[in-house]
Amino acid sequence: KIDVEYRVSADKSALAHAAAEHFIAKINEAAAARGRARVAISGGSTPKVTFGLLTDPAQPYLQQMPWDKLELYFVDERCVPADDAASNYRMTREMMLERSPMKPEQVIRIEGELPPEEAAARYESAIRGHFRLEGAEVPRFDIIQLGMGTDGHTASLFPHTDALHELGRIAIANHVPQQAQSWRITLTWPVIVEAAHIFFLIESSDKAGPLHSVLQGAYDPETLPSQLIQPKNGRLLFLLDKAAAAELPAP
Ligand code: 6PG
Repeated sequence: KIDVEYRVSADKSALAHAAAEHFIAKINEAAAARGRARVAISGGSTPKVTFGLLTDPAQPYLQQMPWDKLELYFVDERCVPADDAASNYRMTREMMLERSPMKPEQVIRIEGELPPEEAAARYESAIRGHFRLEGAEVPRFDIIQLGMGTDGHTASLFPHTDALHELGRIAIANHVPQQAQSWRITLTWPVIVEAAHIFFLIESSDKAGPLHSVLQGAYDPETLPSQLIQPKNGRLLFLLDKAAAAELPAP
């Protein structure tokens, strides 16, 4: 049984601040416990605002974040060059990396410019190296931030795609014909659920229906892949704005 907790912010701006504060709190927690925080972040438009706040000199967050303790990974990436407008890395570079004291070696990028299978293999190998994994050991990220699409996808685990059935590997190439960027590299769901702390960051009214289906509807991960995210630690947190939470019972 998963203990699902959701915290509802009044609007998108309040949510972005709540997410910034949450990142800092959880990263400080991991850094205090383990000397560093291995964090995997998602792409898309929702986290972009939060990353901008974290590195805005006019906000308190830039000083509060233990930037030197961060080891930054990506939940997924589109198979496009690093300077492509669709690149999650480009968004993160522009909104966070270039505006923070992070060093390049703290960022483990997915090489979206490579052929998909090669990009996935190299990312898996980079994770195995950084986590010093042996054999079939699964990497345990300290923090994984997820988003959710209106189709119920998370990471690049899209409905009716092969990635939903991949259990053995850490990262794979996923063909997503329904998306403009139809090749994606994604962490697999067994890796995501292994994380010490997972939180979804979801905003806007178009997500209210899908979120209700994911949390309250029948279990059907082929159609609603976000339902695969059942953390092994038994807890799951959703940071929502009021619009996205509109179809959920009051917390
Ligand atoms: C990506 C993300 C993806 C994202 C959802 C929600 O590469 O696009 O990893 O899973 O989290 O699509 O995106 P928005 O926050 O833009 O709605």
